[in-house]
Amino acid sequence: MTDRELINLAFEASRKAYAPYSGYRVGAALECEGGAVFLGCNVENASYGATVCAERVAAAKAVSEGRRDFARIAVAASGDDYAMPCGVCRQFLYEFAPDMEVLAARGDGRYVSYRLRELLPKAFSPENLK
Ligand code: THU
Repeated sequence: MTDRELINLAFEASRKAYAPYSGYRVGAALECEGGAVFLGCNVENASYGATVCAERVAAAKAVSEGRRDFARIAVAASGDDYAMPCGVCRQFLYEFAPDMEVLAARGDGRYVSYRLRELLPKAFSPENLK
């Protein structure tokens, strides 16, 4: 799948966002090795801290289906800024795939790409618990 196709899936997923409080609708499309894709959107809650980001919804769906081999994630939201994953989501993804690719798209469809390791340098990881 091309970057563009994965980003389009992330934008599609953002249409399912439940974001009545922030109004910021995020979609994520997580691709595993071999091409399986898991989608997520942000799910907000009246108790704001219970909100879950789009990336973590997608990652939890993948893990719960037995997939931990994350290769790429596209994150998309309308707006002028690239939809960069928050710190908690970076940590959550790093657990499984420190070298995965992260694509962050903005409303006009442009995107930037990083390795997760670049976005979370000197990370705390399972290695620290050995
Ligand atoms: N959000 C995400 O879904 N992903 C991120 O990486 C950043 C933030 C959501 C959470 C909340 O519903 C809204 O964006 C505003 O913070």
